[in-house]
Parts: sequence; C-alpha cells; structure tokens
Amino acid sequence: MAPVDPHSYTDSAHPLTTHVSLSLYFDFPSSTIHAAALLNLSSPYSGQLSLDARSLTVHGVLDPQTLAPLPFTLSPPDAVKGSLLSIALDSQASVLILYSTSPDSSALQWLSPPQTFNKKHPFVYTQCQSIHARSVFPCQDTPAARICYSAKLNVPRELSAVMSARHSGRRDPVAGDVSEGFKKVDSAAGLNFESLWCGDGRVVEEFVMEQPIPPYLFAFAVGELGSREVGPRTMVYAENVAAVLDSAASEFAGTEDMVRQGEKLFGEYPWERFDLLVLPPSFPYGGMENPRMVFLTPTVIKGDASGAQVVAHELAHSWTGNLITNINNEHFWLNEGFTRYAERRIVEVVQGEERAILSMGIGWRSLNEAMERFKDNTEFTKLKTNQEGIDPDNVYSQVPYEKGFQFLARIERQIGRPAFDEFIKKYIENFKFKSIDTGTFLEFLKANVPGIEKEVDLKLWTEGTGIPPDAYEPVSDLYTTIVSLANEFKLGRMPREDEVANWRGQEWELYLENLPKCVEASQVLALDARYRMSESKDYEVKVAFLQMAISSKCRDYYPEVEKTLKEVGRMKYLRPLYTALVQGSGNEEEKILAKRLFAEARECYHPIAQGVVESILAKHL
Ligand code: BES
Ligand code: ZN
Repeated sequence: MAPVDPHSYTDSAHPLTTHVSLSLYFDFPSSTIHAAALLNLSSPYSGQLSLDARSLTVHGVLDPQTLAPLPFTLSPPDAVKGSLLSIALDSQASVLILYSTSPDSSALQWLSPPQTFNKKHPFVYTQCQSIHARSVFPCQDTPAARICYSAKLNVPRELSAVMSARHSGRRDPVAGDVSEGFKKVDSAAGLNFESLWCGDGRVVEEFVMEQPIPPYLFAFAVGELGSREVGPRTMVYAENVAAVLDSAASEFAGTEDMVRQGEKLFGEYPWERFDLLVLPPSFPYGGMENPRMVFLTPTVIKGDASGAQVVAHELAHSWTGNLITNINNEHFWLNEGFTRYAERRIVEVVQGEERAILSMGIGWRSLNEAMERFKDNTEFTKLKTNQEGIDPDNVYSQVPYEKGFQFLARIERQIGRPAFDEFIKKYIENFKFKSIDTGTFLEFLKANVPGIEKEVDLKLWTEGTGIPPDAYEPVSDLYTTIVSLANEFKLGRMPREDEVANWRGQEWELYLENLPKCVEASQVLALDARYRMSESKDYEVKVAFLQMAISSKCRDYYPEVEKTLKEVGRMKYLRPLYTALVQGSGNEEEKILAKRLFAEARECYHPIAQGVVESILAKHL
C-alpha cells in the first residue's frame, strides 16, 4: 500500500481509472441522487481496489460483464478523507457501482425554490475542488488520476442541466438507459430504479468529456436555466431570470478578447467552448474553473467590468490547472500561482497596466495578512506544503496565489519577459494533460533556464516559510497614493472628495485593506458618513468595511453584517466577517451574535462553507 496523495485512498500499486460512465437520477424532494457508476481501469486487476467515497450509500458492486456481485467494504469515514470503498476484484478491468448520494454530500448544494432567484424551481450544483468529487461518485479522487467521462442526467422536464463537458443531447428516458445491474440490487436498495428513471415528466440530458481531467473538475448544475450568447465560443448561463441574464451578459461582454489574449500567452485554447454559469449567491467561491463551463458567483456582477478579472483568472486555469494540474493539493501553488500570474498578464492587456498593478497591490496586502494568519502555523506560509491529515478547505489562503505569483514574477524579472514567455509556452506544451509536482517544475525550469538556481534561491522560494527578501511590492503613482492616504487615516485625516473622485471598487478595497484593523468607532462612522461604504454594492468594499467596523466594535453596523451574512455564501466574505466577530477577547456580545447568525444562515450555505464557518467558530468559541 503506497498512497499517492495525502487526501486520497488511491494506491500507487493499483491501476488508475481511465473512464467513468454515470447515470444520475435527481430526486429533488429528498435531495438525493440515485446513481450507477461504471469505472474502467487502465488494466485488469486482482485484489482489493481502493476508491474514495464520502456520504454515499453503496447498494451493490457488480462485475459489469457477468453482473456477478463483487464483495466490497465501506469504512467508517475519516474526518478529512471520508470512507474507503474497497472492492475485491478478480481480474476485472471495470466495476459497476450502484449507489445513492446523501442530502449532506459535501460537493452538492440543493436549493429549495425560495433560495433561488426565480423562486419557482429547485436548483442543485456541485463544487468538487479540492476533495469533494467522492461525495458525488466513488472514484480515485486525486488529481494524479485523470479521467474521461460520460453522463446521463435524469431530471424533471421543466429543468435543464449543464456540465463541465460537451452536451450531446436532451431526450426522453428509455428503459435501456438503466443498467441491468440495477435490477439486481433494486429490491435490496428499496428502489425501483427503472420505473423512477422512466417516470412521467422526466428528461435525460447527456454529456461527454473526452479530454482527461482530474476528478475535482467534474461539475454539473441543474435548474431552470436560461442563456445569452456573448462571444463565438461563449454563452452565459444563469437561472432563467431576464435581469440576471442581461446583467451577466453585459458584465462578460469582453470575454472573447480575453480568450484571445490567453491564447497569445499560452497557445491555442484547448477546450473548444468557454461558457460561463452564474450561480445563486450561495456559491462558495468567486469562480471555479470547471472546463468548458466556468462557475461564477453572482457577486462579481457589479456593472463595472471588474468581474472580468475573475473570468480572466478562471480562463487562465484552462491552461494552468486544467491542462497542467497539481499532482495533489500539497502543490496547489502550481495551479493558483501560475493562474494569478496569467490572470494579471491578461488584465494588463485588456484593462491596462494600472489595473494590473492595483491587483498586485491588493495581492501584496493579502499575502502579508496570510503570513499573520499563519504565524503560529508557518507550514502554510510555504509554497510546497505538507498536508498529511489536513483538510484543504481549512488551510485555503492567498499564500499559493500570491507567493506563487511573486515567485514567478521573480523569475520573470531575472530572465526578462520575452524569455519567460517562451518558457511558459514550452512548459505548457511539455506537461499538457499531465499532473505534476513542484520538483518536476523545478527540474524543468533548471533544464530550460540554465543557471537560474544561481540567481534565484529556488529552495527558499518553494520550501521556505514567510516572504522571501527578493519579493516585490508593486509600485505605481496610484498604488502609492492610496497606501499613503490609508496611512494618513491613522493620523486622523480622511481622504478629500477630490482625491477619491475617480476611485472605483478596487481603489477603495486597497484603501480599506491598508487601514488598521481596529480604529475608534467614531472614525468608522465618520468614514461611512462621507463615503457610504456600508451600503456599497461591491462586496469587496462592503465586507472590508464591515470587517473594520466589527473589529472596532462599532455596533451600529451589526444589522448590515447580519444582512450580508444571510444574503451571500462566498467564503471570501464569510471568513473575515465570522473571524472578526469571534476572534480575540472581550467580545462576548459578538460571539453570541456569530453563533446566532450562523444558526440562522447555515441552511443557505454550501456544505463546504458550512464546514469552514464551523471550524472558525470551533477554534474561537
Ligand atoms: N480553483 C479556485 C477555487 C477553489 C480553490 C475551489 C480551492 C476549491 C478549492 C478558483 O480558480 C479561484 O481561485 N477562485 C477565486 C477567484 C479569484 C482568484 C479571481 C475565488 O474564488 O476567490
Ligand atoms: Zn484559481
């Protein structure tokens, strides 16, 4: 037994899965999927095959050829990895697993009609990164194992489905869709799968993904969806509400320009379509790079094109992350550091250098804050981290993004942009559709940029803690002005109207991030009286302001904090607000408030966000 990934039961001695066929029956009333998964292995195997599973009920495992049952065991769940599904094989090269998900499957959020925009229909969607695909189907849930897949989604007729895959049809269900194997386990499972599948008012949506992807990029959403075309290879999808679709279409109108820019930097766009899906406000991230169908929070739609930066980021993952993938989460910086770097290169061209520098400035601040957060746990200030026994959701931070960005920008400064651009193209060409680790990257770097290890301390950058001395705080007139205005606030001076006349969301965000965490309550009130940040439609601004208001015990804003925590589920906002409420001492009132708010809002959060907030509260209460 040799694990390949600290977050997976996958064994290096076992053949890897190459293809998965899924039949998924969506039962909205019970928030459950009844399913069949056919896994094909790279070669026949005899012995115990180890798969990852979480919150799944396994009804039976069969040999797909003979339909003979295969003995299996499902272990009690480990807090981080979930359960080991161990199947006894006798020279099979495929297995058929019949199972159901549970309402608390960690990848899935089931929204009841009142939790959606249109209020009429339910909605369900996945978020599989980093280790939640195993709660949708049993698999070798490690990015070391790339899979192709096909899927049949059986959903109510009034709904439709999208996936991170090519849509190949929508049609009536037929009995032939249902594996014979299901009949064998139906009575044991108390299901009649065939009659469910072919029931009235159902429709089947079919998809195929022919390019091998890591399991964390498996994704679907089901709901009453509408769409608008915004470019030759881009549609935006969202709930079928005209106002949502229209604002999304105008926010993302510039997408094709960015795709072209990505192609200049990295080579041809490799996934054919680049569609966007705007999710309900509970979506736990800003964006998720699911191939062919990026998932986005609606909070990026602000009407000022700044949402384009999130799209630039998820687009850049099409190469760095989706084509070249970190071999496991300990090397997550290979995904996010490269992507941050590429995102800023795209932003620099489509929005100008000033915007790119502001983004670097915001990143520089957040990197310094992350160092503070991990001052007693410096392992997570490294690029390459040890994550044995660690839940990736609990150590998610800006370190892999911004320290990764800094590392790549350092190499670029050393060798010059033209040489670095050439290096990146070669890197992508060389490792596309592969999953790699930090060592492999460094070897490739040294081989292609001879002597780099003498100029840049590669070991310090990748294995050392903290921010290396040759990291670089960005400079520009605007950036410097904002930071010095923030410093003056500490001395009691508020910026004049003429000084902020042209400021947009990012300027305010940077300004607020550079203010002291805790000031006099009267200063908080004065700032808001002049600039109305507590009411900003831009959550980056609003949340940064509310965070300061909480830390400064300016209780006038608690109703706004409550409203915010109940209307969005993006963890970038939940983390700082809940943390500000509960950390430190002498804040009993805030701690009680945090507990009450979480109890009331919990239902509206994605299970991953529920877990993250729970762990923040557990740490401080
Ligand atoms: N892949 C990440 C989101 C993610 C990371 C999900 C780790 C699960 C585990 C995505 O590309 C991302 O970085 N999103 C950012 C957007 C931003 C950097 C523009 C986010 O959600 O804030
Ligand atoms: Zn990312």
